[in-house]
Amino acid sequence: MSLEDLIPVVNKLQDIVTTTQLADLDLPILAVVGSQSCGKSSVLENIVGKDFLPRGTGIVTRRPLVLQLINLLLDDSLITNGGPDSDGSSQLNGSSNLKRSNNQHFSQNSSSSSSDEQEVNLEEHLRKHANGGKYEPPSEWGEFLHIPGKRFYNFHDIRREIENETARIAGQNKGISRLPINLKIFSTRVLNLTLVDLPGLTKIPIGDQPTDIERQTRNLILEYISKPNCIVLAVSPANVDLVNSESLKLARQVDPTGKRTVGILSKLDLMDQGTNALDILKGNVYPLKLGFIGIVNRSQQDISENKSLEDSLFAEQQFFMNHPAYRTMSNKCGTRYLAQTLNKILMNHIRDRLPDIKAKLNTLMGQAEQELANYGDIPSTLTDSKEARGAMVLTLMTKFANSFVTSIEGTSLN
Ligand code: GDP
Ligand code: NA
Ligand code: MG
Repeated sequence: MSLEDLIPVVNKLQDIVTTTQLADLDLPILAVVGSQSCGKSSVLENIVGKDFLPRGTGIVTRRPLVLQLINLLLDDSLITNGGPDSDGSSQLNGSSNLKRSNNQHFSQNSSSSSSDEQEVNLEEHLRKHANGGKYEPPSEWGEFLHIPGKRFYNFHDIRREIENETARIAGQNKGISRLPINLKIFSTRVLNLTLVDLPGLTKIPIGDQPTDIERQTRNLILEYISKPNCIVLAVSPANVDLVNSESLKLARQVDPTGKRTVGILSKLDLMDQGTNALDILKGNVYPLKLGFIGIVNRSQQDISENKSLEDSLFAEQQFFMNHPAYRTMSNKCGTRYLAQTLNKILMNHIRDRLPDIKAKLNTLMGQAEQELANYGDIPSTLTDSKEARGAMVLTLMTKFANSFVTSIEGTSLN
């Protein structure tokens, strides 16, 4: 189970909440925190599953990077843009939501009523009208807030632009800036989620860094992680004693009970021969409700040799499976398990939001039924009218939404 598996669930719910505009999923933001070069950017890249962040020894991340992942199929304007049927576009938006949900093959959706047939018809309808009759699945790309309208299709170019834009504001000589770089990644393979990459905690000023660099980075990080809807990914390198972990100190400051902090122990491959982090990973050393997860990211040599993300994930898995200390708990180690854990956290968050969403849906449902009753039986001549079509879509959608919410409520998250 990876973060991608959440796409259909989140999409469906986001469809529902954005179309009804009565509720908000309000998904948490994920932020990585830790000392310089502990592996924050690497962890983030692994989570996203893309090679695009500047990484390396020394201070590389010098401005916050606010990374908004946008699931392409969710954003109607990107698909229906330029379609000839501008008149019916508001209805089409509703119908494309249904189309999407239908497309994602969400296994828990057992509602196979007549509304499913309607969904298929609406899907056809959308297909015909989008892109002048030709529906082509869009590719994936990145867009920066500071270069509006320019699509970066090459992820190496995205990395270069982050580097250039970092230097433009924070200078060439190791300075940091609190001004964030905003990057959106549009893809069919990402979950709608916001992640933040942050400069590392550092003590001794170098280059153009001010004398109070430690205080400045600390405040910068706190700006992000003090928000209650921020999940703190507190990274500590396994080759440094955990009592010295800067990330855990900061995380504890904003999340004293440790309920929104995930401990990440990086560089397990770099521990001294004969030592291991089993005690930490088992939660015997430092209490965190969400636990500690051991990780092996790409080494500097891997980066220099352009080792692919895929190869590195495989190597990581091998590392845990073959390691004498970790092999019995290898299914609770590594990037894959981290993704599963984040999945669970997001699902729990969604589940907490469900009663509210459901209540609002019921209200909406009542309204839609009332509206439909006012129309009486819809004469076929009227089904093409805006009002009738709107009411029909709304009814189908709320019916569908209700059965979906019910199906999620019955899902086990463990
Ligand atoms: P950040 O400064 O915290 O964002 O860390 P980066 O992700 O930029 O990584 C810093 C350096 O540490 C890079 O050279 C990485 O290759 C290396 N690195 C990060 N994580 C690991 C790891 O788990 N194992 C090894 N061997 N090297 C790592
Ligand atoms: Na670094
Ligand atoms: Mg970094």
